[in-house]
Parts: sequence; structure tokens; C-alpha cells
Amino acid sequence: MIYVDNAATTRPTQAVIDAMLPCYREVFGNPSSLHTPGQKAAEALQKAREAVAVCLGASPKEITFTSGGSEADNQALRTAAAIGKKNGKTHILSTAFEHHAVLHTLKALEKEGFTVELLPVSPEGLITAEEVEKAIREDTCLVSVMFAQNEIGTILPIKEIGEVCRRHGVLFHTDAVQAAGHIKIDVREQNIDLLSISAHKFHGPKGVGALYARSGIRLTTLIEGGAQERSKRGGTENLPAIVGMAKALTDATEHLDENAAKVTKLRERLIEGLSKIPHSALNGDRNTRLPGTVNFCFEGIEGESLLLLLDAAGICASSTTCARCHRSGKTLSPASANSICKGGFSVMALYTETVMDHFQHPRNVGSIDDADGVGEVGNAKCGDIMKLYLKIEGDVIADAKFETFGCGSAIASSSIATEMIKGKTIDEAMRLTNREVVDALGGLPAHKLHCSVLADESIKAAIRDYYDKHGIAYDPADFPAASCAHCHEE
Ligand code: FES
Repeated sequence: MIYVDNAATTRPTQAVIDAMLPCYREVFGNPSSLHTPGQKAAEALQKAREAVAVCLGASPKEITFTSGGSEADNQALRTAAAIGKKNGKTHILSTAFEHHAVLHTLKALEKEGFTVELLPVSPEGLITAEEVEKAIREDTCLVSVMFAQNEIGTILPIKEIGEVCRRHGVLFHTDAVQAAGHIKIDVREQNIDLLSISAHKFHGPKGVGALYARSGIRLTTLIEGGAQERSKRGGTENLPAIVGMAKALTDATEHLDENAAKVTKLRERLIEGLSKIPHSALNGDRNTRLPGTVNFCFEGIEGESLLLLLDAAGICASSTTCARCHRSGKTLSPASANSICKGGFSVMALYTETVMDHFQHPRNVGSIDDADGVGEVGNAKCGDIMKLYLKIEGDVIADAKFETFGCGSAIASSSIATEMIKGKTIDEAMRLTNREVVDALGGLPAHKLHCSVLADESIKAAIRDYYDKHGIAYDPADFPAASCAHCHEE
């Protein structure tokens, strides 16, 4: 298996696992306990803090351990907001392409009375320090700009933005979750006040991260409890994970240049190869990008379908949507070329064999020239469309064909639904529910249930069209509008 999804998560190295194991065996004490096992644990915790601090150019007391990057982002933003509020400053600047951990926290702060301004990014996925400076106001209390974009991998001018913020007396936070362990970070040299990292992005364990807060910044507590983390985060420290993170970051930092050179070569090979595919385009600036991140748009190709086919071919990647692809109406498939390894999980594990079978070998694809009824429905949220053609003889559905532009689940649902209605009476087809389609597929993941609704709705739309064309009276209540709660439940 080829795993190119390291932008989503990385596999912990053996060295990291080896560093963690003693914390489950010998060094199992609670770092807050005064007895010997507790003090051993406290020592390991301190060593980990020192190691993380060294890697970031910080001092140990400026490092607070968290449950990951999201918590670190939340705590950083809430800290800066609280300080701002105290000083009568409630304007926050950020960018439109931050991680949800930042964007959603900003939304919550907006509800609490803060004014949030999201700066647009260039088509290359960049923003300049000058643009940030222009947008800073008298009442700006915080600028939050990510170190490197998590999906397209572009690297932002952090040092310059930090310098602008210093000049204007504004706190500067950067979400460095995607950057840490991959490119150089030095909080002092780069004028950073608050910085978030997450271990699982650099071959450390999941569920652990850290927040750097420049000395003098009093952190707002998110988790009340004991006096852990200088009373800024209650709860017994996750020592094995913290030790694993320190080891992973130390190893990554020690081999930063060497790894970057190796991975950049792989990235360039991947870009070269993918660029040869017709209608493909690289997203984000060609050069100012993380060594291991490649994000491509394949016009006309639905992202998840591509992922499923890649997975079937033994390649694990990730997809998302971007403005560029939305303009052309379709999605893209990005990949991280950070490393290629054997093993890893499978996207196919999400889907039953029946779903995969109907997705990879869809039945009844196509159109019927002299169809008696045609129904076209779509989901406004995801943009997926299904068109169903029916041939009706008497009151029996003699043939059904479909054209679906959509995800793997939508294609599988269309395929199995056409199989289910062929040979059935109109009444029987009318009674088919999306739940029955899901059951016939052996289930769909919760976030994909709405895909089956397309099949259900297209059948009703095609039958209604048949009734209209043939002047057959019907009760409109039997044909609800072609949208439903499922379509919006994500
Ligand atoms: Fe919307 Fe499948 S993702 S129909």
C-alpha cells in the first residue's frame, strides 16, 4: 500500500514508540505525586518540555501541553481575545483559509462581541505582511495566520507578519500544526507570540499537542481542574504521548534539512507526473510550499470517487474542495507526498463490499432515448446530481438507467436503486425509500446517508414526469420537493 496522506496524519516512528513504552511500564507515576514514581514522571515531563522548547526556540516555561492542535488554537485565540477585551480592543484579523479550529473559535468570539475580519488569500494561496498591516486597526488585539496551509501546503510569511504585529503592538498567533517538524520554526526570530502544534503531524502520537505562549502572556484556562501546566490546563498530563511528541519533534528537527531535501524531490516528481494528466492543475504557489504537500485539481472528477479508485489501487490520499475547482463545478484530489510507506488504513473500510461493487461496476449507467419519464435531482450542498430515465410498460418499470455525477456513495445508490425498481410496478417503486437503498447496500457511513436520498428522489421525479407527460392525475403530496433534511444534516 502507498500512503500519501501524511498531511492528515503520520505514522509514529519506532523510535517514538520506544520512547513512549517506559511511560506505560516503569515511569507510570502521576507527575503531581511526591513519591519516587511520581517524581520520575515529573522529571520525564520536564525533559519533554525542554525538548519541545528547544525545537521551537522557546524556553520550557513558555510551553503548555494540550490535547492537540485544536485545543492549542482555542486556548491561544481565547487568551488573546481576553487580553484584548481587557484593553478595550475587540478586532481580530485572520485569513479565510485557516483551519476550522481557528475559524470556529473566531465565530464563537464573534458571538461574544468581537469583530472578526478574514483577509482573502491570493489565487496562489498566499497573503503578504503588507496586506496584514493595511488591515490592522487601532482596536486590533490579535492577528492569527497559519504557518503553512493545511490543505494546499503554501507557507505564509510568518516572520514578516510577526514583525508587523510587533510594530503595532498586536498579539500574533500562528497555527503551525502543518509546519512543525517539516520546516524551521524559531518563535523568537519569527516574532511569534502564540503558536500551536500537534504531534501526530510529525510522526508523534495522536491526542497531544503544545501551545507556545511568549513569556508575559497569561494564558486563559480552558479546562479547570488541578494545578497541572502551571494551573493553565487542569487534568493529569498524558505523559506517554507528551514524551512521544518530544521525541518525534526532536528527531524531525534534527533531520529537518535532510528530510526536506528528500521529500521535496518526491514532491517534485509527483507534481511532474500529475501535471501530465489532462485537465489537472496544481493548487497553491509552485515553490512557496511545504516540502511534502501536493494539492491538485482534476477538473470534472469528483474527489471522493477518485479517492475510492485510488484506494482500490492501494493508494491512500485525501480530497477536499477548493474555490478553483468549485468554479469549474468539480472537486479535486490533493495528496501529501511526505513519505511513502507500507501499511496504513483503507478508505474502503468505510464502505461495504456491496457499495464498492456498485461503485466500481455500476449497473444501468446511461440514458434511454425514448424514456417515458426522466427525473433529475441534485443536492445543493455537495453539488452531486442524479438523472434517472425510466421505460414504463403498462404500470411496470421495464427499464431504468441513470447518469450520476457525484460521490461513490451516490453512484452506488443510483446503481442499486435502478436494480431494485426494474420489473417493479410504479406503486412499488414509489414506495422505495432511501433507507431501503442504504440497507441493500449493506449500510453507508452516517455522513453519506444523504447520497441515497438522490436515488429515492430521482425515482419520484421520473415517475412524476411520466405522469405529467401522459396526463395522468396524481396527488402532489406524494411527490415532496426534491430535497430533504438528510441533504442538510452534515
Ligand atoms: Fe452528496 Fe454523495 S456527497 S450525494
